[in-house]
Amino acid sequence: MEPKRAVQISLRGVTKVFPGLGEHPDVQALGPIDADIQQGEFFTVVGPSGCGKSTFLDILAGLSRATSGTATFDGTPLMGVVPDGIGAVFQQDASFFWLNVWDNVAFGLRRRGMSAPEIERRVDHALSFIGLSDFAKAYPAQLSGGMRQRVCIARTLVLEPKVLLLDEPFGALDQQTRLLMGDELLRIWRETGATVVLITHALDEAAMLSDRVAVMSARPGVFIDIVKTDWPRTRDSTIVSDERFGAITARLWAKLRAESILSLGAALQTTGQAD
Ligand SMILES: Nc1ncnc2c1ncn2[C@@H]1O[C@H](COP(=O)(O)OP(=O)(O)OP(=O)(O)O)[C@@H](O)[C@H]1O
Ligand SMILES: [Mg+2]
Repeated sequence: MEPKRAVQISLRGVTKVFPGLGEHPDVQALGPIDADIQQGEFFTVVGPSGCGKSTFLDILAGLSRATSGTATFDGTPLMGVVPDGIGAVFQQDASFFWLNVWDNVAFGLRRRGMSAPEIERRVDHALSFIGLSDFAKAYPAQLSGGMRQRVCIARTLVLEPKVLLLDEPFGALDQQTRLLMGDELLRIWRETGATVVLITHALDEAAMLSDRVAVMSARPGVFIDIVKTDWPRTRDSTIVSDERFGAITARLWAKLRAESILSLGAALQTTGQAD
């Protein structure tokens, strides 16, 4: 049996309301959310577009303050400042266009004042596992979208965070690369013991990678189901052929289908296309 792990991130009654602007009303984006994420857990959130997933991750990253409720990391309230030990890869490409790939990945290490040989060791290692060693001197404009996203992943991983927050990090990648990057992510998760919180729209990715998958409702996002997978820690993408994999994916879709229709219906109504 796996040892009982400590709660690392805890949310109680967390909500987020974005104030309206001009004629646009306030947007109730999230919550109330209650969640306990254990140290070393692989926790994934799936949900329809616009339901509040990125908002949830921004609160965990310390980038956005909850409107009400409390969110804590290692017992300390998350107050709108990114704490040490939390690393995030965001949904939109955030590579620095004025730095080449190598310098992009080294950026955070230099800011920490790390020694040059240690920076070189970490950056070279990170570039080799994301498959971009040959592009070390290239600038982001010379890369594909998926390659740029891999640079952002490497830039966060070299910091060896205790908690890794990933917002659709493989969204720009093709299916084969996604599966292999998923395997890499599982390896990093195992080797570093980091907690991973992943947002994805890919149900197969969620079912394959996670210890638990939370299904978020249409906006304002609340957790309507939390599915425990019980995969061994040593799993990889070959579990897609396990019969339980199909059952988990089916359960996720059963929960998500109605929410996605709701979410799309609301979107169509606001654009005047629904009848
Ligand atoms: N900075 C902001 N200011 C105002 N409203 C915002 C802001 N960020 C998000 N929202 C609103 O909050 C809601 C949730 O947005 P969020 O980005 O969290 O959705 P999401 O689940 O990540 O969607 P997607 O799957 O499309 O990335 C949306 O209705 C969005 O319009
Ligand atoms: Mg998002």
